[in-house]
Amino acid sequence: MTEISSIALATDLYRQTFAGAPAAAASAPGRVNLIGEHTDYNGGPVLPVALERRTSVVAAASERWTFVSSVDPAPADVEVDTPLQHAWTDYIVGVIRELQKIGAAPGGASVAVASTVPIGAGLSSSAAITVAAAETLSALAGCRLSPAQLVDVAARAEHEQVGVRGGRMDQTIAVHARAGTALLFETDTGAMRTVPMPGRIWIFETGISHKLTGGELNARRAECEAALAALQTRWRHLTFLADLPLGDLPDALAMLPDNLARRTRHVVTETARVRAAVDVLSAGNLAELGRLLVAGHNSLRADYESSCPEADTIVASAVARGAYGARLTGAGWGGAVLMLAPAEREHEVVDAVAEDFNERYGRTPLTWATAAAAGVQRESIPQ
Ligand code: GLA
Repeated sequence: MTEISSIALATDLYRQTFAGAPAAAASAPGRVNLIGEHTDYNGGPVLPVALERRTSVVAAASERWTFVSSVDPAPADVEVDTPLQHAWTDYIVGVIRELQKIGAAPGGASVAVASTVPIGAGLSSSAAITVAAAETLSALAGCRLSPAQLVDVAARAEHEQVGVRGGRMDQTIAVHARAGTALLFETDTGAMRTVPMPGRIWIFETGISHKLTGGELNARRAECEAALAALQTRWRHLTFLADLPLGDLPDALAMLPDNLARRTRHVVTETARVRAAVDVLSAGNLAELGRLLVAGHNSLRADYESSCPEADTIVASAVARGAYGARLTGAGWGGAVLMLAPAEREHEVVDAVAEDFNERYGRTPLTWATAAAAGVQRESIPQ
């Protein structure tokens, strides 16, 4: 597959919209999380992979802030000190406000954004834009942020400014990804380790767009916090929900109301699945990895209640049609399913799954494949 270049798109858009050429440019990838869903804000491990699809942000200094994007090509003059607009521009305003706090923001800029990461598909288009914007705008201000600062600015832009309280998985993989590897990120200690991830991952877009600003993720996070608080009355040294030992789960579940018990069971069993996934992926055992993906999906569906019928259909069909495994990836409530299939049969499996989906929903899901790609990078401006 030819790589689609968001940097060329962003630079063209810049030239068409503003006079002259941009002075700084960077791109960052979307991500697919192999396994470890809703563990990152519970102190557990995650195992994401960066997509080949990226978001590019190009900019040059100006007296005011003007943004344009490939999805919204009408240039918007933006005030960064007034309340957010509930628009895509909020993500960049959030980054600017966070850069200002550390003295790394320019005074104003003309900014063009282009992306090949699908929006609202659970593939982290928001971290791709915030990380790329943080890198480009800090470069315009003459600063080079450390990887930790980049993650921090992008995560705070989304959590504190936009107000979606996820964890730090998306920003971490967008910054730290290495091509050909998945990243084991321990969210309690911040430790990171790459795990070789050869081959291709298939993505099925359900076509159901999630809007995290709608509040489901924040609601689940609040439930996890309530469960932790309840369990701390008995497990006094428990700092994170994901740290509850698997063997203590039956006792823990018995003392929680049904919804909190199910959220807890997901987080604790998912943490164990990430550990097992790292072992089997390191051993190259994709068949066993596939079984863990399906178990993870079933846990999201039944216990975390973050799936949707379209995703359940794709996972069931993938398993029936000979994939190693599949599961909903990202926050959920719509979005995308990832699938691993034997390389020699992958096209056959993808076509069969798309047919099954079409039979049920009367439309085919968008499908595409990605290898594990690299994280944020500064880009030279195409001529
Ligand atoms: C969103 C959040 C992540 C993570 C996932 C669920 O993508 O931004 O931090 O919580 O949902 O695993």
